Amino acid sequence: MSKLPRSPIALEDRANEQGRLYSPSAARNRDAIAAVLARALPTGASVLEIGSGTGEHAVAACQVRPDLSWQPSDPDAASRDSQASWAGEAGGAILAPLEIDLLRSQTLAEIDGFDALVCMNVIHIAPWAVAEALAALAQGRLRPGGVVVLYGPYLQGDATAPSNLAFDASLKARNPEWGVRSLDAVVALLASHDLCLIEQVDMPANNLMLIFQRREPE
Ligand SMILES: C[S@@+](CC[C@H](N)C(=O)[O-])C[C@H]1O[C@@H](n2cnc3c(N)ncnc32)[C@H](O)[C@@H]1O
Repeated sequence: MSKLPRSPIALEDRANEQGRLYSPSAARNRDAIAAVLARALPTGASVLEIGSGTGEHAVAACQVRPDLSWQPSDPDAASRDSQASWAGEAGGAILAPLEIDLLRSQTLAEIDGFDALVCMNVIHIAPWAVAEALAALAQGRLRPGGVVVLYGPYLQGDATAPSNLAFDASLKARNPEWGVRSLDAVVALLASHDLCLIEQVDMPANNLMLIFQRREPE
C-alpha cells in the first residue's frame, strides 16, 4: 500500500499545495500500477517516464522499488513543478524532471540511454504521432534487456469495454487527433521498432498494462 497521503483535490481544478498537484485517478489506481511496475522493471533500472503528470505514480513506484532511478518528464511546466515537489517523498530515487515533448525533437536530443521507458495515460490523449515518437525513442535509447511499459485504455474489437468506447468518443469530440488506441495497432507499432509484447495485464476500470521487451539481434 502506498504511503502517499490521499487528497480529495481534483487535478482538473489544477489545485495545488505549493506546486504539488493531486490526480483523483492516480489516487485510485496508483497502488495497482505500482504493484505491476514493481515486478516488471529490471533490478536497479534507470527509468524514463514520459508524460509523468502530477508525479504521483513515480513516488508510488519508487516507494515499493527503492532501487530504481526514476526520471520524470512532461512538456507542461506546472506538471514538472508538481513532480519536483512530490520527488521529496521518494528518498532521492526521483531525479529533477525533464521537459520532454515527444512531438518536439529538440527536447529529445539530450536523453541518455535507459533500462525502462514508462508511459501511462498519454497516447490516447495526444496525436498518434506521439505513440510513433515513443516507439522510436525506445528503439533508439533502450538498453539491452530493457522494457517499455504502457498503461491505459485500449480498443480490443468486439471485446472493447463500453466505457472505453464512450471515452474514445469523448476524446475525439475534444480533439479529432485523440482517441483510445487500438491494442493491435499499438502492438504492431512497437513490434516494428523491435519491441515484443511479453505481458498484458488486466487492470482496474478496463485499463491494460502492456509490457514490451527489446528484441535482441540474433
Ligand atoms: C492524462 S495525463 C497522464 C499523467 C500521468 N501519466 C498519469 O497517468 O497520471 C497526460 C500527460 O501527457 C502529457 N503529454 C501530452 N502530450 C505529450 C507529448 N507530446 N509528449 C510528452 N508528454 C505529453 C501531458 O502533459 C500530461 O501530463
